Amino acid sequence: MSTRTLIRGGLVVTAAEETHADVLIEDGRIAALAASGSAAAGAWSAERVIDATDRYVIPGGVDAHTHMEFPFGGTFSSDTFETGTRAAAWGGTTTIVDFAVQSKGKALRAGLDAWHAKADGNCAIDYAFHMIVSDVNEATLKQMDGLVEEGVSSFKLFMAYPGVFYSDDGQILRAMQRAGGNGGLIMMHAENGIAIDVLVEQALARGRTDPRYHGEVRKALLEAEATHRAIKLAQVAGAPLYVVHVSAREAVAELTRARDEGLPVFGETCPQYLFLSTDNLAEPDFQGAKYVCSTPLRPQEHQAALWRGLRTNDLQVVSTDHCPFCFSGQKELGRGDFSKIPNGMPGVEHRMDLLHQAVVDGHLSRRRWIEIACATPARMFGLYPKKGTIAPGADADVVIYDPHAEQTISAATHHMNVDYSAYEGKRLTGRVETVLSRGEPVITQREFTGRAGHGAYTARGTCQYLD
Ligand code: URP
Ligand code: ZN
Ligand code: ZN
Ligand code: ZN
Repeated sequence: MSTRTLIRGGLVVTAAEETHADVLIEDGRIAALAASGSAAAGAWSAERVIDATDRYVIPGGVDAHTHMEFPFGGTFSSDTFETGTRAAAWGGTTTIVDFAVQSKGKALRAGLDAWHAKADGNCAIDYAFHMIVSDVNEATLKQMDGLVEEGVSSFKLFMAYPGVFYSDDGQILRAMQRAGGNGGLIMMHAENGIAIDVLVEQALARGRTDPRYHGEVRKALLEAEATHRAIKLAQVAGAPLYVVHVSAREAVAELTRARDEGLPVFGETCPQYLFLSTDNLAEPDFQGAKYVCSTPLRPQEHQAALWRGLRTNDLQVVSTDHCPFCFSGQKELGRGDFSKIPNGMPGVEHRMDLLHQAVVDGHLSRRRWIEIACATPARMFGLYPKKGTIAPGADADVVIYDPHAEQTISAATHHMNVDYSAYEGKRLTGRVETVLSRGEPVITQREFTGRAGHGAYTARGTCQYLD
């Protein structure tokens, strides 16, 4: 017997509209919406009734860029699929798309199987995978076709990290050509890693070892150059392109120009680039290591271009690039050499709240908040309308959001498995109250009521943002 759930009296906010409506859930899906107070809604009954008066009723967040148990710099990101998806749920995210990694010399399949093994039975919310291709060759190009068919329809390539994940322009072009033919979407880490490695070597030789030099050598111009090159390679290949973790205003300008030409080029940014800056990287006593990620944090004046890009749709998605490393024992690997600090920051728990704060601050409209955090990531990665909206037939991944509650972010109260918060002490207006995943309460009035293993692997279709 299925449990019917009724959410009464809230303001339902989707990317498309805002309506005062009651939401009926049955068999894990949205069964119907009807105007609050209407005869239709009044006739509904359910075993579970949630009062959403003075609350928003929004789709569960879709975080299209996470790294649980990710190998980097001789260590692994500190959230497992269990701890990371639980923290995501606390923050109102009900789907993550994580990156499976192909090891050099191995098949894509082997990497994907390994990531399934890490996630299977451990997730509190639904999950899907992208594939990091670190070895583009004839065999792996063919394997891409099969992955698209089975629901892993996006492939991350790196213009950074020579000797690790790096692909050269020829490999990138081949992968783009393949994706152009099989419906896959190439996701690009756009930084000129060859040039950056020269600057790293020169900085270290001059004794510039502090975390802030991570930001100085990974220059905005080298992000812009790589972004430009990726766009041109995609244009030559006749393939769409999604640029991940855009942080430099010069890179936004490259995306804007390409989109003005009508090219199918998309960009993602992350909360850390919208709310933090090189001032954080410069924090004394090696505290700046907490903010080492790539692309790096930029001087504050870049933020206006990111907000504008989000408003003008030159940037379409905000994901977290959640890749946490503890300060103690992990970030500390880079004391005396910033290039040995594992790259990545925690954030999966706070994306929805930080972006709601952007609504409060006037950077975004409410519907745009839902569009960049829920609907567009779902469409971009072939999950819509199952995920990313509240409409009949959609999975009942629903967040009851209190827009007036006040909270202060702190490592003492967050749920991510990491010993610091990049937003320690930051005060926010708005907070997640209750979260349903396919109709099941995962967070109930700020108590975790979910379980590891509820979250299901979700095969994806191809990019729906091109339709
Ligand atoms: O610093 C970052 N972003 N770490 C995760 C790996 C990546 O490049 O996305
Ligand atoms: Zn209202
Ligand atoms: Zn990256
Ligand atoms: Zn990443």
